[in-house]
Amino acid sequence: MRFERAPMTVRAAEEQMWFHMWRNASPHPIVGDMSDAANRRSFLRHSLVGLGAFTALSSRALTQTLLAANSSAAPTTHPTTHKEQHMPFTLPSLPYPEAALEPSIDSQTMIIHRTKHHQAYVDNLNKALEGHADLQNKTVEELCASLPSLPEAIRGAVRNNGGGHFNHSMFWQIMAPAGSGGAPSAELSAAITKTFGTMEDFKAKLADGGMKRFGSGWSWLIVKPGGALEVVSTANQDNPLMKGIIDTLGTPILGVDVWEHAYYLKYQNRRADYLKSWWDVVNWNEVNKRFAAAK
Ligand SMILES: [Fe+2]
Repeated sequence: MRFERAPMTVRAAEEQMWFHMWRNASPHPIVGDMSDAANRRSFLRHSLVGLGAFTALSSRALTQTLLAANSSAAPTTHPTTHKEQHMPFTLPSLPYPEAALEPSIDSQTMIIHRTKHHQAYVDNLNKALEGHADLQNKTVEELCASLPSLPEAIRGAVRNNGGGHFNHSMFWQIMAPAGSGGAPSAELSAAITKTFGTMEDFKAKLADGGMKRFGSGWSWLIVKPGGALEVVSTANQDNPLMKGIIDTLGTPILGVDVWEHAYYLKYQNRRADYLKSWWDVVNWNEVNKRFAAAK
């Protein structure tokens, strides 16, 4: 099955205009309200810049404006929203259009991955926490880190769906359109070469973790307590925050989803090709930020 890139429509141009306006706005005081297209369109139409642009430009002109914005945009940085989220948990918006990661990841996969798979984790996490007022104010990170102390009746559901929510929320942010994600910082590069030998050795180790993961799971770069780096692989939606579940704990600063739903439409059984192409869309600016915070 092959998905062709559709010609840009007014709607698509509008979406991308919103994206560039949002990305270049600092700070982003209403990011929490940008979870659906209606709100984004509302923001666009009520912004003085957006109102003028939207009413004055044709679809073609919008496209040209967006292309110009693409060529001059600063490296992508995005706020971390999931740490501020509490019950009910919500599906985070993408910090780029669904098609922006092509050709590494096709837009159809991005749409299904986020709006179906990730949405299901969010919905099931909220359902699991119904009636547990003491747990509803915890962040998803806190829930992942406290699994052994949770009521046994919901422990499995929180493990799978809380893990799924945290993992995917991070995944969307540590990716960026090819050419916009920057490069590893000097500090991160030094830590990687000290630990793994070379950057290529590190990439091979992370890919190896993904390739050897039987079935579904993730391959991670983590910062362990004390500051050392390590690559670990986890099954299903487990992650290195899960005390009592995962042997090697740490703060994940980069992770790649090797569930088939992350790549099968484009790559079918060729997980190795997906993992190779995935490096083109890593948002190193975001990874650098997470490394600096975790040290
Ligand atoms: Fe996934």
